[in-house]
Amino acid sequence: MAASGTNGIIDLLEKILKILKEEHAFDQSDDQPVVQFHYPADLQKKMSFSLDDNPATSNEIETAIRQTIRYSVKTSSPNFHNQLFAGVDEYGLIGAWLTEVLNTGQYTYEVAPVFTLIEREVIVKSLELVGYPSMPDADGIMCPGGSISNMYGMMCARHKKIPDVKKSGLSSLTSPLVCFTSEQGHYSILKAANWLGFGIDQVYKVKTDGFGRMIVDDLKRLITKARSDGNVPFFVNATAGTTVIGAIDPLPEIATICRNEGLWLHVDACLGGTLLFSEKYRYRLRGIELSDSVSWNPHKMLGAPLQCSLFLVKGKHALYEVNCAQAKYLFQQDKFYDVSWDTGDKSVQCGRKVDAMKFWLMWKARGKIGLAQSVEQAMSCAEYFLKQIKETVGFRLVQSHYQCCTVCFWYIPPSMRDQKETPAWWKKLHEITTQIKKRMTLDGSLLISYMPLPEKEFVNFFRMVVNCQPPPTKSSMDYAISQIEKFAADL
Ligand SMILES: Cc1ncc(COP(=O)(O)O)c(C=O)c1O
Repeated sequence: MAASGTNGIIDLLEKILKILKEEHAFDQSDDQPVVQFHYPADLQKKMSFSLDDNPATSNEIETAIRQTIRYSVKTSSPNFHNQLFAGVDEYGLIGAWLTEVLNTGQYTYEVAPVFTLIEREVIVKSLELVGYPSMPDADGIMCPGGSISNMYGMMCARHKKIPDVKKSGLSSLTSPLVCFTSEQGHYSILKAANWLGFGIDQVYKVKTDGFGRMIVDDLKRLITKARSDGNVPFFVNATAGTTVIGAIDPLPEIATICRNEGLWLHVDACLGGTLLFSEKYRYRLRGIELSDSVSWNPHKMLGAPLQCSLFLVKGKHALYEVNCAQAKYLFQQDKFYDVSWDTGDKSVQCGRKVDAMKFWLMWKARGKIGLAQSVEQAMSCAEYFLKQIKETVGFRLVQSHYQCCTVCFWYIPPSMRDQKETPAWWKKLHEITTQIKKRMTLDGSLLISYMPLPEKEFVNFFRMVVNCQPPPTKSSMDYAISQIEKFAADL
């Protein structure tokens, strides 16, 4: 496999398509394993990872490509339920490939004319979906992942509270700035507090109720406490779709508190934002339109190729004012076209990957109606799975009610049923869950993640995720249940 010149690249791409087919890269049937798991040392023996002085031969390159496909996890398998993403929307994939072929940076209209207009359209339509004002009274940007989108939220909030910090830095403050998120909010809020110099001790963790939602009275209590400790509250992160339970915080009540207290409300809708497409489910995010900023990852649940994350914010020039550095070599103001189309200075990045194309092509090809149907299919399969778990002997739900696309449960093997549930029994169940996971991974027929929830003192349980891609079915839900029963039969 050697490429030189235009024909060489075309030949190579044609060869790759053939290899993808032969290696079942897109096979969505049950027959193909989700993973052929090998421990790292064994994988190092199976595949040549070394980078050498001399070029590899065509055969060696082809082998490396085939092995990469063979030993990678097939997230497009109907039995991959391990993460908050799965598979890939086919139009999204084509958009991603086109982006790579045209390989450019999303900073100036000059080098990304089509992609600049595409990103704008994606932002305009996403603002509408969330219920925000339209541009220029609100703005947005595509970010390299939800963690960074959340960090943008914190930066915009800081800028609104104390614009001078951009120039003079945090050391000029007499009192520490503090923020609030629920104990089940994503850890990227802690990372943002670290990276932005506030410190993770300045993140107050608000308690959650029995369904994993932020308790608003505890938020009020902590805001009062923070002030009496001599701190300056500035930012509340509410979550619409928590990472584990999929809980949606009570957004209207939190918005009222933020308005009364003069705090920025950011909604981390990285997971749950996708529900907004569906008229049947969007009410669950009621109040999101009252926030100041939102993060949303179409690469979660919806099936846009990684990475595809949006940060949306209310206010004219909100992003530009926070981030601009006005580099003269790139953002010349005397260009022959309208330089407001050079959107790069709104970003913290210089070179920025084009992430809009894949999502735009998906949306264009499927329409809002098609995307809504995908969401409803995933949610109805999640509801079916929940019902089956409730009714099948040996399975126990971690909580009875779920608002998004995850369902959390324990599996109690026959040997542990009808016993007193002492701390030792729970410790054993914790370990059994790990053992089931080991068996399923080595078998390669199913992948579901497990985790504890220390805030609630829950030992290890499984988190089933039902994503839009590949379109889930009742039979793939039944299969997951029967496989778990099989792996745990003798434990
Ligand atoms: C609720 C929530 N917010 C933010 C993130 C971070 O998104 P990313 O992985 O794109 O950085 C995640 C990741 O799982 C998440 O679940």
